[in-house]
Amino acid sequence: MLVIFGHLFLCLRMVGTHEPNELDLQFFQGADDFFLAHSHQALTYDDVSLATLYSEILPRDTQLSTRLAEGVELNIPIISADMDTVTESRMAIGMALNGGLGLIHYNMSEKEQIAQVARVKGHVHGLIQNPVTISPDKEIGDLLQTIEKEKYTFSTFPVVDSKGKLLGVLPAHVLNKRFAAYKVTDVIIPRSKVCTILQSQLGNDAITTADQYFTDNPMEHKLIVVDGRDRLCGLFTLSDILKINQERSAQFKAARDSRFRLLCGAAVSATRDASGKLDRRRILAHVYGLVEKGVDVIAVSTAHGHTKGVGESVKLIRDAFPELPIIAGNVTTGAGVEYLAEMGANVIKIGQGPGSICSTRLVAGVGIPQLTALYVASRAAAKRGVTILADGGITKSGDIVKALTLAQGVICGGVLAGCDESPGEIIEIAGKIYKKYRGMGSLAAMKAGSASRYGHLKSDTTRKIAAEGVEALKEIAGSLDHVLTQLIGGIQSGMGYLGARTLAELRQKARYVQVSAAGQREASPHDVIELKTAVK
Ligand code: XMP
Repeated sequence: MLVIFGHLFLCLRMVGTHEPNELDLQFFQGADDFFLAHSHQALTYDDVSLATLYSEILPRDTQLSTRLAEGVELNIPIISADMDTVTESRMAIGMALNGGLGLIHYNMSEKEQIAQVARVKGHVHGLIQNPVTISPDKEIGDLLQTIEKEKYTFSTFPVVDSKGKLLGVLPAHVLNKRFAAYKVTDVIIPRSKVCTILQSQLGNDAITTADQYFTDNPMEHKLIVVDGRDRLCGLFTLSDILKINQERSAQFKAARDSRFRLLCGAAVSATRDASGKLDRRRILAHVYGLVEKGVDVIAVSTAHGHTKGVGESVKLIRDAFPELPIIAGNVTTGAGVEYLAEMGANVIKIGQGPGSICSTRLVAGVGIPQLTALYVASRAAAKRGVTILADGGITKSGDIVKALTLAQGVICGGVLAGCDESPGEIIEIAGKIYKKYRGMGSLAAMKAGSASRYGHLKSDTTRKIAAEGVEALKEIAGSLDHVLTQLIGGIQSGMGYLGARTLAELRQKARYVQVSAAGQREASPHDVIELKTAVK
């Protein structure tokens, strides 16, 4: 009997030790208690640390999926910023393949941005439904020019006649300047030697059918799909099928739409006409073009989202496209979140001045340190049933963990700007390689198109305009996969320390403590000579 009681007592004690004790609760508070107690002082990432909790969760068992809006479900909560030195199609493809999302910037013509979205949505995966083709009367040089102009990275080009009938395929090795003067018909692999499958034979699971075909035909690495009249319908490549198989077993799967295409977002601005009025026709035509190419979410991206112009733009788009997920911002107040939600936004961007290239707080004297802004915004968002993104100021994975205790995702500019996939110009200084990274409010970026983001007209050359961003350099960071692996590893560690299996649990469990200046110093490696920088 005594033994049983003793055991029961031990069990109860063990359960008890899983909970924070009373003293803990006085020092480490949940979000509401902590931020309300600190309402006299705005805080940002480095000002706080998270208290650990009893955990049975290993970092590798944590899940990072996040649902921003209907149709925008990501497998990692990271989004690349809509900046002209961060996200174009290559970055957006990389982000989506890693489970996140890229927002293609708008410092380019609408036509070019729409083409970039099409590139992401058409990125090879599974069945390529509209393969790029060439007609038999063209020369190889014509195709090489197109490849360069469109930045195609693939090398399989079916040859079709004017009715779409398959005539053959170009061998990859002829895509070379030395063959530029050859006619397509001179170098074509003829139809009789091209392996094809009828569309009607693909069945319900086309990927499995194609996979089996490549197993049965080890010498083949392309499979062309035709209809009953031998017209080209699509194309499978072995490398895509291998990637898909690999992806099926990966922990963080690519972010895809219901048709298995990569997710892609694009930013639009609250464009004004020469008289300063909202250019409704142009905004709608722009969004229509993006939607037509399959864009999954658009972001009405401005420096001050709690304004009539941004609200009206959101409403305009919401009325015209009732189902389209809309991100809007930026705001840092509860009223700002509520306003944009009321206008029809599903996801609100939070951040005014925290960005690594931002000077808004210095120039205009406005903005709220990011964690306080996120807390205030998160409570307004919960009330309105919208989600929020922590935009700007992320310099390390620990910042992301802290941001995710309040937000459903983060937007990163600086930490991704040095990646191979970013469009920033490469510069060599004293043998070291850097990439250019500039604020969208820098004079150079505003001249290139982003003036409206800051409430200026592009044609506004007579008025004095103060830049709200700087032009800078980032050390090159290597591949996006590598950078994201580091960030994801950090997020998973943070979740393990808090015993949070999911991001929802992280939000619910987080307890904060403010850190002193000495505490901040203590947080970084100190009193050593670093051989390798641990945190980038
Ligand atoms: P990070 O810290 O990730 O910040 O480099 C990226 C975010 O900063 C915002 N952004 C700007 N903010 N002036 C600003 O005040 C600018 O010139 C500027 N450019 C970008 C934007 O929200 C981005 O996602």
